[in-house]
Amino acid sequence: MRIFLDTANVEEVHLGVQLGVVSGVTTNPSLAAKEGIGRLERYKSTVVEICRLVQGPVSAEVLSADVAGMLLEGREIARWAPNAVVKLPSTPAGFQAMSVLSKESISINQTLCFSVNQALLGAQAGASYVSPFVGRLDDEGHDGMQVVEDIVHIFRTYGIPTQVLAASIRHPLHCVAAAKAGAHIATLPYKVLLQMMHHPLTDVGVARFAQDWQRGEKG
Ligand code: G3P
Repeated sequence: MRIFLDTANVEEVHLGVQLGVVSGVTTNPSLAAKEGIGRLERYKSTVVEICRLVQGPVSAEVLSADVAGMLLEGREIARWAPNAVVKLPSTPAGFQAMSVLSKESISINQTLCFSVNQALLGAQAGASYVSPFVGRLDDEGHDGMQVVEDIVHIFRTYGIPTQVLAASIRHPLHCVAAAKAGAHIATLPYKVLLQMMHHPLTDVGVARFAQDWQRGEKG
């Protein structure tokens, strides 16, 4: 399972890439707003900068709700960088835009996916990635990770090449569950990436090795 960062914060991407564990990025309008990005030009320059930092796919979301607007924006985003991926919602307009843009060889991340049925339709429409929102499903009392597992299973059964990108990941156990479910990618907030790395026994072990070595040097 590949690890992506779910952020519009360039510094976080820089740090994640430096660690050598992050191979892609997903953004959305809420994440952009969190960084004080409220205009398309700033969103574009931020995404372009992120595309420069990370070699893998970087998803940027369209803001239009209608097909014509999605097509215009999608084609524009696809021109921002060779690794830019167009994020389109799981709505009727979104599926229609996916069908058109995928035929133009534009890479698509089907976002706001909350069901197996939506994922099946996105795959038919040519999405390269489908993003089931695990945390938001859990928030509503559904089992978000079961949706991920079901999509992976069905795609595998039919040899569907669309990659399953577990999104709306809220804590480290979600990462473990996404990997067990067979997700191709998990996209994480930077905080969860740090939590994944940390284990108190590692800290204790590092300190103890250093102490023991010092004792040995004196002996
Ligand atoms: O990748 C989708 C993600 O940004 C949504 O996360 O925590 O807002 O549900 P969240």
